[in-house]
Parts: sequence; structure tokens; C-alpha cells
Amino acid sequence: MRENLFSFEKIHTVIYENSNEGAEYIAKTISDLIRKKQKEGKSAILGLATGSSPIHVYRELVRLHKEESLSFKNVITFNLDEYFPMRPDAVQSYVRFMGENLFDHIDIDMSNVNIPDGTIDISEVQEYCLGYERKIDELGGIDIQILGIGRSGHIGFNEPGSNDRSLTRLVTLERITRSDASEAFGGEQFVPRRAITMGVDTILRSKKIFLMAWGNGKADVVKQMLEGPITDSVPASFLQNHPNTNVVIDRGAAEKLTRFNEPWLVQSCTWDDNLVKKAIVWLSRVTKKPILKLTDQDYNEHGLNELLTDQGPAYMINIRVFNMLQHTITGWPGGKPNADDSQRPERRNPESKRIIIFSPHPDDDVISMGATFMRLIDQGHEVHVAYQVSGNIAVADDEALRFAEFLHDVNKYYNREPKTDFEKILNFIKNKKEGEVDIPEVSMIKGLIRKGEAKAAARYCGAKPQNVHFLDLPFYETGRVQKQPLGEEDVKIIQDLISEVKPHQIYAAGDLADPHGTHRVCLEGIFEAVKRLKSEEYMKDCWVWLYRGAWHEWEIPEIEMAVPISPEELLRKRFAIFKHQSQKDGVVFQGSDSREFWQRAEDRNRDTATQYDELGLAEYEAMEAFVRWKY
Ligand code: F6R
Repeated sequence: MRENLFSFEKIHTVIYENSNEGAEYIAKTISDLIRKKQKEGKSAILGLATGSSPIHVYRELVRLHKEESLSFKNVITFNLDEYFPMRPDAVQSYVRFMGENLFDHIDIDMSNVNIPDGTIDISEVQEYCLGYERKIDELGGIDIQILGIGRSGHIGFNEPGSNDRSLTRLVTLERITRSDASEAFGGEQFVPRRAITMGVDTILRSKKIFLMAWGNGKADVVKQMLEGPITDSVPASFLQNHPNTNVVIDRGAAEKLTRFNEPWLVQSCTWDDNLVKKAIVWLSRVTKKPILKLTDQDYNEHGLNELLTDQGPAYMINIRVFNMLQHTITGWPGGKPNADDSQRPERRNPESKRIIIFSPHPDDDVISMGATFMRLIDQGHEVHVAYQVSGNIAVADDEALRFAEFLHDVNKYYNREPKTDFEKILNFIKNKKEGEVDIPEVSMIKGLIRKGEAKAAARYCGAKPQNVHFLDLPFYETGRVQKQPLGEEDVKIIQDLISEVKPHQIYAAGDLADPHGTHRVCLEGIFEAVKRLKSEEYMKDCWVWLYRGAWHEWEIPEIEMAVPISPEELLRKRFAIFKHQSQKDGVVFQGSDSREFWQRAEDRNRDTATQYDELGLAEYEAMEAFVRWKY
């Protein structure tokens, strides 16, 4: 039975405001099971996953162990998968991941831990996999299995094409999966091509399943899994056949579901301005007509009769929505002096504003809002830019070597001591193992390369050198892809800058789709700092605008400020992005998109302009888009 009548979802789905709350709910269910089994003198059999999704669940389980005396003595675990081949001590191995995130911090008996072995000989894999299945069955099956979902739709490493009868076996990884893992391996070419994974059937035999997904990067695949047909091209859709699966997601991952995206198709709605705007932009898209040409018939034929009865005729609604969109467009992102600002996105006063642009990585400012950055400076505002993290792991080794050599030669030329220990750096890089953490000398050089690029780009945009800040937030400096959670020190650094500048405007990356989570933590830090400073007098006059990073753009109905970009400005923006040379031509973390960052930025900004144009608004070359965060 469908549990939520107002949705198209075919699996029971629970949506939380954020991933922490969802993870706590899952951890609580797991701990209840462990305790119940303890009372019965039985073992709890858990199926575990790796990746970014379950980390909060593990963190909460560790907390329950440390603070609420949850013991894992009666727990037996089976991990879903492991790369093949893979040494257990390698940084990317799932053995290591599980140790670092869970097993090293709890009292589990390690002989009860089962993780597919990435070291066995290929000739023994089949027998090994059968043994894995047998062991699960002999223990009576998995009580609770937790899962993440890959953007390919995989569960475990059951890639598209895996059927629902599949068992534990050796599989070949999809390109998108390898590209998502490329960061951990320092490049896609280093990601193993194969893995051992439990099969779809192995997973479906579990008594209870939790699948979790966080962030809007997963929204498309979540919709396919929940609302689409059961198909082996989205292996997670097989969960529709499982009687006890709970999909636990946050608002980001849920954003494409029909109940949020087109709620008028599933239920009667309260038609506030935002929903009307959303519906009309959607209608214009599905009918391929500009807003002002939509008719009563279009409304009726597309499930919008309720809106029509409520607020019609179409003509009136069309004009209202057209004006709402029109009022988001401004060439004056810092407010237009001496103009009536009642229908503009920004206040005109004070005419010259103090502004902080927070950029998570050193190039997000110019990639995501380079044209607005330049406009704000050209229009006389005092613009500060704050780079939140060093971004050092995204610099290629040979790039670091080139700069180390340069430094070494400069020192030699001036006969200066101490010379850069070039030999040490050279030797380290030459002998570096896949995924090995950089020695401090190399991290430092990589960080400096990105700093230099950011300075050059900010200078090109017109920022004063004293207004360029490098925050080097400590949460990032692990030397690895996996970062620490946001700490007190991180928030304090952000807070200090805000209280020093006392800004009228803050720009921040509201890019929750960042696959590596850095943007998310950077934003969390800003939100926390702003909340703490909220009662200060100067904060009463401070507006926070969110831009999105390189992966995503705001949806048209969400946009509250759209800044048009002329062809010349777009070219200037491109040149600013070019200053980030280490992120051009074959970057370390390319992801699944082979376009360079400047191309992605231009395509995205042009696309926003095209969408406004197709809705029947003015035609611009490109546009940058912002949403206001009201705290
Ligand atoms: C991990 C696994 C994978 C991941 C999936 C999502 O053991 O089997 O299916 O759950 O790739 O990964 P994250 O959570 O990193 O987005």
C-alpha cells in the first residue's frame, strides 16, 4: 500500500530537514535492534555500506557507544562491497574506511566483521563470494541493511544491468561511479575497474533496509528509484519489491519528487505566490509557450484548474507571474542608487555597501559569480573576498614540482639559504603511492599555488589586496578527500571576519550539491556564524545572498536576483577563471563532466538567460542567479 497518498513514491520515504536528523533516526533503529537482541541473547546481523552517506550514522553509533553505553559485542557485520584489487591498508580501502569511521571506536569483536576481501587471487573469487553468501544465510540473514545510492542508480556496486537475482560477485564499475571515486584516488585512471559486491538478491533478502541519500546531487536518481519503473537500468528500483524498505532522505535529495516539484498533480494546494510562480514556469515549459501566451485551456489541460478557479483567469495570473520574474532581474546587485527600490531585489541604501563574498574553494567566486563580483566593484562597493579553504588537494603533483623547482632556482640564483628542499619534494612525488597523503612541504606548495591564482583573479576583478582574505579553515586540512566536521575554530574564523567588516551584503555558496561536501561545510560555517552574530546592530542591515557552485544552478522559480551579463562581461569573467591555471586542462577532480570550469560556468549562465527568454522575458547573453537566505 502507498503510505503517502499525496505522492508518486512507490517505497516508504521519510524526508528530514537535514542529513544529521535522518542519520540519527537510522542509528536509533539500529541501536534498538542491538539492545533487543542483547536481551534475547542473540546476535544482531548488520549489513553496512561505505561512502559519504552513512558517515553520520556511524558517528551517531559511536556516540551511542561512548555516551549511552551501547555495546556491539553481539553484533556481526557484513559490508556490501570492496574494490578489487585492494589492499586493506590502502587509504581508499573499505576496510580502512570502516575502521576509521566505526570499528576503531566501538567494542565490536573484529572476528565478527566481514568485508569482501580485495586481496584474494582472481581464481578464488567465485568460491569466496559463494562463501560470503553462505555465511550470511547460516546466520539467518541480515537484520538491517543500510545502503547509499550511486548516481548511476547502483546499490552496493550493482551497476545498471545488474538483475534482481544477482548474488555476491566480481563486477565492473560504471564510468560515473569511477569518476565519483576519482577524488579519493587522485584521478579516475587510478580507480580500480572492478569490485566485489553483494548482489541485488543478497540485499533484497535482508529483513529491513534503510537507503539514505543526502543533497540535491542525488535528487534525479532518487526520483527514478522512487517514482520510476522497476528496471535493471536503475538497480535501486528493485527495492520497490522489498516489503520493508525505508528510504531516508533530506530535502535536497527529495527536491525532484513530484510531491514537491509538481504538488498540484498529486493533491489540492494552497496557492501562495511562490507556488503560483512555480506552477506557471512549469506550465510554460511543458507547453513550450511564453508565460503571456498561456491560456485557460492550457491551465485546464495540465492539472491547473484549481489555480484557475482560485485566482484566474489565465491572463491575470500570467501577468502577475511575469512581473514577479521581471522584478528579479537587476543590473545593480548592490542596489541602484536614487532609484525606487520597492520592486527591486536589493535596497538602494546605503549607496556604497560593504560586502563579503565567501568562496569555499579559491575559484568558486569567479566561476559562480565572477560577473557580479566585477559589477559590485565597478559600482563602487567595498568588496571583500574570503577564500574559505586552501583547495590544496586539487593541485596535481607535477604542478607542485614545477613551482618547487622554480622556488629552488630563485633561491639558488640569489644564493639564499635555506633552499627549498627540492630533492625531498622530488623524491616524495616520484615515489608517491596511489592516494598517499602529501608531506607538509608539498601541501604547502600546492596551497600557495592556489593562493597565488586566487589573488591574481581577485586583482583582475578589481578587489583591493587588503580586502582579499584567506581563511584556511582547519576542517579541510586533513590532506585527504575526507574532511573533518565543522569545528568551533572554523566558525570563529568566519565570525571574526564578519564582525571586522560589518557587511551589508554577504554572498555565500549555497551549493549543497557539491559532491565532496566541502561547500556544504563551508556554508554551515557561515550559517552558524551569522546566527551567532544576528543580534549585533550591524547585522540587522545585512542581507545574505546564496549563489551556487560549479555543479548546479538555482531553478528559475527559486531565483530572487538575476544579474544579466553582457557578451563583454562574460569574456571578462572567462579571463578571471583562466587565472586559476592549476584547475585548467586535465584537473585532478574533473568529475563526470569533461568541460572545463569556464565552459561549465558559461553554459550555465547562458542557460539561465535562455530560460528567462523562453518564458517571454528579455533576452540576455547570460545571467548569474542568487537566492536570499533570510535568517
Ligand atoms: C558503498 C556502496 C555504494 C555507495 C554509493 C553512494 O559501500 O556500496 O553503493 O553507497 O556509491 O556513495 P556516497 O554515499 O558516497 O554518495
